[in-house]
Amino acid sequence: MAKRIKIIGTGSYLPEKILTNFDLEKMVETSDQWITERTGIKERRIADDNTAVSDLMTEAAKNAIEMANIPVEKIDGILVATVTPDMMFPSTACIIQNNLGIKQGFAFDLSAGCSGFLYALEVAHNFIASGKYKNLLVIGGETLSKITNWSDRNTCVLFGDGAGAAIVTESNDDSGLLSSVIGAKGEYGDLLYQPAGGSRMPASKETVEKNLHTIFMNGREVFNHAVRTMVSAANEALETAGVEGSDISIFIPHQANVRIMQSTAKRLHIPIEKVFINIDKYANTSAGTLPIALDQAVRNGKIKKGDLILFDVFGAGLTWGAAVMRW
Ligand code: UT7
Repeated sequence: MAKRIKIIGTGSYLPEKILTNFDLEKMVETSDQWITERTGIKERRIADDNTAVSDLMTEAAKNAIEMANIPVEKIDGILVATVTPDMMFPSTACIIQNNLGIKQGFAFDLSAGCSGFLYALEVAHNFIASGKYKNLLVIGGETLSKITNWSDRNTCVLFGDGAGAAIVTESNDDSGLLSSVIGAKGEYGDLLYQPAGGSRMPASKETVEKNLHTIFMNGREVFNHAVRTMVSAANEALETAGVEGSDISIFIPHQANVRIMQSTAKRLHIPIEKVFINIDKYANTSAGTLPIALDQAVRNGKIKKGDLILFDVFGAGLTWGAAVMRW
């Protein structure tokens, strides 16, 4: 890699309202036992009616900026990864730029499902490596509760709301991003999607009545692809970085299902104690899971200077990504 990047500040924000598995038992034909055993989820956070994803992201960004101790005048651009933007346009990144009082630089969103944060980090890396930009604000997050069909037990138990952010800058020491790989398999797009609301199927009375503005997923198929793809992505990132699974201090996988995380870690020869898991509290927040987990691990002292972190994601697209970073 040409120039290396590092993260100098992290932040996250989760809505206060908690929806437990027991609450869901009253809404659909499910049980705390089924959800816990099949997914590892116990509860999730839900944004209230007046809260949009930019509100969560703005708070996460403020926390990251504070940790980085950087004036907002020095932020050269904002990259937002989400599939639940405030609206189709303007971009959520532009809304956040205004919320933060940032007057300079670019701002745009990218859509890569649950892989969004690593996609955005890879873009940030190449932007900074070009020498044109120095400090970038990278944010991932969702308000999936707003596109969840609350009468579909196959999906409604899985998702939650939350956002995480990072300030990314050029690294002049041996810390930072050692490798990063991203990819997509567009032929599997129909395994996980939101059918209506775009140019293929614009909003109509019928699309609303048929709940087509919500998440549709073939869970079993996605599960099978997830483990295989996350293992190969992680191996590619480890190899590019010149390290082994056993060298990793902390493994931060996408929080979609605890069984996916366990199987992936096992195949990568990473002991389960090294796997960062918070899915029990927040469920799957898609592009939010990685930056939220990173921020919590940093603030709870689970990541120390010099530690090797392995990130690994998988999501709608289908998309995937993995990265190795020295803290
Ligand atoms: O963020 C990236 C994308 N998302 C993922 O990575 C998710 C990947 N998939 C998964 O995590 C799992 O496939 C699920 C958690 C979605 C489902 O777990 P599973 O072990 O694959 O269950 P299944 O879909 O094979 O369903 C098993 C049974 C079915 O009943 P029958 O047909 O065996 O009678 C389902 O109808 O469980 C039933 N079921 C439920 N039962 C109680 C499905 N959802 C529920 C539920 N409560 N919420």
